[in-house]
Amino acid sequence: MIVLGLETSCDETAAALVDDSRRIRAERLFSQLEAHRPFGGVVPEVAARAHLEMLDGLITEVMDEAGLNFTDLDGVAATAGPGLIGGLIVGVMTGKAISAVHAKPFIAVNHLEAHALTPRLTAGIAFPYLVLLVSGGHCQLLLAEAVGRYRRLGTTLDDALGEAFDKAAKAVGLGYPGGPAVERWARAGDPARFRLPRPMLGRPDCHFSFSGLKTAVVQTVEALPPGPLSDTDLADLCASFQAAAGDSLVDRTRAAIGMVAARTLVVVGGVAANSYLRGRLQALSESLGVRLVAPPQRLCTDNGAMIAWAGIERLRLGLTDALDVAPRPRWPLDPEAEPVAFAGVKA
Ligand code: KG4
Ligand code: ZN
Repeated sequence: MIVLGLETSCDETAAALVDDSRRIRAERLFSQLEAHRPFGGVVPEVAARAHLEMLDGLITEVMDEAGLNFTDLDGVAATAGPGLIGGLIVGVMTGKAISAVHAKPFIAVNHLEAHALTPRLTAGIAFPYLVLLVSGGHCQLLLAEAVGRYRRLGTTLDDALGEAFDKAAKAVGLGYPGGPAVERWARAGDPARFRLPRPMLGRPDCHFSFSGLKTAVVQTVEALPPGPLSDTDLADLCASFQAAAGDSLVDRTRAAIGMVAARTLVVVGGVAANSYLRGRLQALSESLGVRLVAPPQRLCTDNGAMIAWAGIERLRLGLTDALDVAPRPRWPLDPEAEPVAFAGVKA
């Protein structure tokens, strides 16, 4: 069984071919980072146009590399949400067109489910497992029980963790995206120099909140002498921020592990690329006798292989979609999850 997967929900255009023996036959990814960098964030219109320009070329490349024709496919999967609607339309319409012309099943993939299923592609793990999804747009703890069955245990009341890294980076004068730059500067810094808040620490639930931490970084910068930060101040601030974020992340994850007596913890999303945070999660897992699974970095951030794999998982169960399925900017994995009682809640 082999499926073509298309990802266009944010600022990466990606196509990949994956088979049901968990082999990635070919993958291509075009990052739009340079197009968005001058704006300090992702611009939806710019993203949609770039997807339109790049996607068909990437599809041709993966098909050529794998030596396959569209007639060899068992299905076509495209991210149908959640995400920026312009990009979703490009991917879904392209996928539907291929599927219609070649009479192949179409699979409308939930982007969050694709992240959550990635460890089954990379490590072949079995259900159930706990998923910590931390990216620029999402910050959730989910119990993955089966394909299509997820229980949201925790979510953020305000900013996603990647968003907090990006905002903290901006406050200290680093460019977008901020996560990798903050991690780099933090290596040389003193994490104890600035006392920053540890949001939500010790609460019995497992929700997150990061906007207070970001505000504390802004206030700390304002309290320093005006002008560009010295290298020492910059490094110490990045290290102090990362340590505070790490304490909060570990505490919330510990609460979720306890809540469902998890034996396996999976960390995915762009922030999972952070080796300091990975180390903290590794230490937590070891202390609790839990197995930590962290897919390789390129499969933690948005990519086509995770969409193709989600397509395989759904196709195996006969979970295909009709060609009138619509892309959805909002598409919670667990619609039954308790609404969280704060302003600006993200599902
Ligand atoms: O999953 P992703 O590529 O895109 C989505 O948001 O869906 O995640 C991007 C986010 C950005 O906020 C970026 O700053 C953050 O992941 N990020 C990191 C690191 N690398 C990327 N955050 C902390 N440390 C990193 N090394
Ligand atoms: Zn993502």
